[in-house]
Amino acid sequence: MRELNEINRELDLNNQKILELLNQHLSLKAEIMKTKKEGGLPILEELAVLEERIPGFQDSPYEVELREIFHKIQQAGKRVGSKCLFDFNIALIGFMGAGKSTVSRYLKNMLAMDEVDIDAMIVKDQNMAIKDIFATHGEEYFRKCESEAIIRLKDCRQSVISCGGGAVIREENVTNLKKISRIVLLTATPETILSRVKESDERPILNGNMNVEFIKELMAKRADYYRKAADVIIETDSKSMNQICEELIKALILLEKQEKK
Ligand code: S3P
Repeated sequence: MRELNEINRELDLNNQKILELLNQHLSLKAEIMKTKKEGGLPILEELAVLEERIPGFQDSPYEVELREIFHKIQQAGKRVGSKCLFDFNIALIGFMGAGKSTVSRYLKNMLAMDEVDIDAMIVKDQNMAIKDIFATHGEEYFRKCESEAIIRLKDCRQSVISCGGGAVIREENVTNLKKISRIVLLTATPETILSRVKESDERPILNGNMNVEFIKELMAKRADYYRKAADVIIETDSKSMNQICEELIKALILLEKQEKK
């Protein structure tokens, strides 16, 4: 049996090595992201699953614990990468069904950014579904909640913010979103929108109006608000989620470069 002191000394040394290696790991992640950013390379290539890259991973008696640790390391690496990409939040705007929530989830998974959904904040605050808020208190009340939720985001960092489709109709919301984020408008044709929203009855504005004509008309009424608020516009029709997000990131990088000139 070894002396406890000796084992502890070895453990201390071990911790130092781990720390050193983790530092190196995160620096490499930062370097990879900067290289991709500078070189205009695809940002979101699917990461090879770590376990597959590390021989013997599965043979360890501590497999479960190692998986947990590596998951955390992977998340930290993604976060370091996303900090190299942007030092601002990304606010997603656009018509209902334009893909804001899906894009947000994808960016969260790929870049470990935090996800903020303004509708979800309202549902939580009010303890009521959006359609019930509309039915009980009316649209004006919902819009007031929406504006208040946006104000509360002022300390938000490293986040993708999904805004409800009507959020940018109020100018104060645009002003407050611009203070904390770059605004990305996602667009889709009325036909695509209908195909994405038709099965849901969660959007009170579309209930009873689930047709291309209504969507087209409302979209036309809102078009100027959307375009005026947007820093970047991304069309989503017939594109994969990866394509949409790569385009979005490229456009934001370009915007940053232009602003720095
Ligand atoms: C609305 C869009 C909805 C939600 C509410 C009102 C709108 O959000 O905020 O039903 O006026 O366009 P999504 O765009 O996420 O569906």
